[in-house]
Amino acid sequence: MSTNGLVVAIVGATGAVGEEMRAVLAERRFPVSRLVPLASERSAGQTVEWRGEDCLVQVLNEDSFHEVDIALFSAGGSISEKFAPIAADCGCYVVDNSSAFRMMPEIPLVVPEVNPGALEQESMIIANPNCSTIQEVVALQPLHAVAGLKRVVASTYQSASGAGRNGMDELRDQTIDLLNFREPKNNTFSRRLAFDTIPQIDVFQDDGFTKEEHKMMFETRKIMELPDLPVCATCVRVPVFLGHAMSINAEFERPISVEDAMSALENAPGVILHRDPADFPVAADAQGADDVHIGRLRVDPSAPNALTFWVVADNLRKGAATNAVQIAELLKAAGHLDG
Ligand code: A2P
Repeated sequence: MSTNGLVVAIVGATGAVGEEMRAVLAERRFPVSRLVPLASERSAGQTVEWRGEDCLVQVLNEDSFHEVDIALFSAGGSISEKFAPIAADCGCYVVDNSSAFRMMPEIPLVVPEVNPGALEQESMIIANPNCSTIQEVVALQPLHAVAGLKRVVASTYQSASGAGRNGMDELRDQTIDLLNFREPKNNTFSRRLAFDTIPQIDVFQDDGFTKEEHKMMFETRKIMELPDLPVCATCVRVPVFLGHAMSINAEFERPISVEDAMSALENAPGVILHRDPADFPVAADAQGADDVHIGRLRVDPSAPNALTFWVVADNLRKGAATNAVQIAELLKAAGHLDG
């Protein structure tokens, strides 16, 4: 700890989310006295940009956290499983972007616009939710407050950046190969993504859903504190570099008009409502932004008290880095971080 700020580590600082974490920490003027960028041996000797200067990347090891006040992790589940408890044992708060701890009852799973109170549960490790789940619950919470959620069906259109730098590189390379009449290769995605869509994100589970779909279903219930909420998700990778979109169909306990829904969303934190159907948001509108964009809101005539709408957000920012930094801000505001 320092007298004029906090020592902040980013685990996975060279990755797609790590890069956004640096940007968001600087933009939101989080009080960082020293940034500790951590990555694998592959990045030894490299530098990353921090507030206009080069900052040397350090290789992650068990001694990385001794002087660190808070660490933002985004280097994959197995790295989090091993190193987050080590960091916590050193007295370092951890905001973990992997799925390793999200569903553990003793670990808060937090979207600041939805359940900031979950941070009252004392824990050195706080889980950052799945990218699609974050934008889904930011959209659902204001409607739930008006009419009581009864059932949710979501279908996602998720960009290649959700699979990190490797995902974006693979989409670029496949696109170039196809346009040059070469056979594209796929390593990161299970099929060719360029000029196609893949209804598989993460591995398949015994019930036929993918793990990404399970994350959306289980995490939504935990964050919204609705353990019995019926949720069904279909997660699809689309050939977009950045920005996740989704179609949400929600049924409510009580009647809710389009106007009531729109005014609730307009007044909700972190939401930009597109009232005009033709002014629908697309991924490009959300890129680089921290808000969740909502459009195409209409009554679903096929069920009572049902609405259907379109939600878009920057998956690397609100879906990952911004949400993690917002959690760090809440910890600071609650007096858990001195600096
Ligand atoms: P590195 O660049 O050294 O491989 P992305 O999600 O964009 O693929 O980024 C993953 C991030 O996680 C990168 O910063 C990567 O570092 C980091 N990472 C991956 N494996 C390890 C590891 N074994 N130890 C530390 N960092 C890791």
